[in-house]
Amino acid sequence: MKIIRVQDQIAGGQTAFSIIKDAMEKNKLNVLGLATGSTPLSLYDQMIHSSLDFSDVVSINLDEYVGLPAENKQSYHYFMQEQLFKYKPFKKNYLPDGLAKDADRECKRYDEVLATHPIDIQILGIGQNGHIGFNEPGTPFDSLTRKVELTASTIEANQRFFEKKEDVPTHAFSMGINSIMQSKQIILLAYGKAKAQAIKAMIEESANENCPASALQHHPEVSVIVDHEAAMLL
Ligand code: GLP
Repeated sequence: MKIIRVQDQIAGGQTAFSIIKDAMEKNKLNVLGLATGSTPLSLYDQMIHSSLDFSDVVSINLDEYVGLPAENKQSYHYFMQEQLFKYKPFKKNYLPDGLAKDADRECKRYDEVLATHPIDIQILGIGQNGHIGFNEPGTPFDSLTRKVELTASTIEANQRFFEKKEDVPTHAFSMGINSIMQSKQIILLAYGKAKAQAIKAMIEESANENCPASALQHHPEVSVIVDHEAAMLL
């Protein structure tokens, strides 16, 4: 893993953007894997304000809450639309369908999307408990897309986006650890001291399923972009 320390979230967004820009200029970005949460917003801001044209690029998101329609303001469909897609059109945007009635079929469909569109660069944030996508601690490293139950700590952490805790969905569809590991290149972003413990476990502990992000130690091309607070325990 290549650790890149930056001043703050703005600088982190600029650093991640320059990696994406470089790949685009070399015609090496056909499929971009995207993440939600507050962390990638400075990157999306850079993309929006750039002259880069993503209309030949396919995007694939990591996850979506089960039970939320695309119009729901807390859904990841809505988030992506508002934070990126309405400003920068892509060739096609893929996200899991939170309303899919048949979960197994939806997961299979998503794995087929991933098989036909191998991800060139995957953007990741990280949960305070080390989750990536919605792969909570204990997720097998060979996991593919599936329906997952969110942990109490993730529900707690994501509560800030909802009016009340009861509104936070209890399940999500998420790409698995193995699906993420298939990406040719990965950029993981983390800012703030709430992420420091997860960053330490991801980098310094031997890879184990209690810290899902530690699987990335086995990936050949990972850039970890961290501010001083997220890196403070390293
Ligand atoms: C959610 C998402 C993750 C994201 C995490 C951290 O759980 N499923 O992909 O990395 O939140 O969110 P934030 O960036 O807001 O800290």
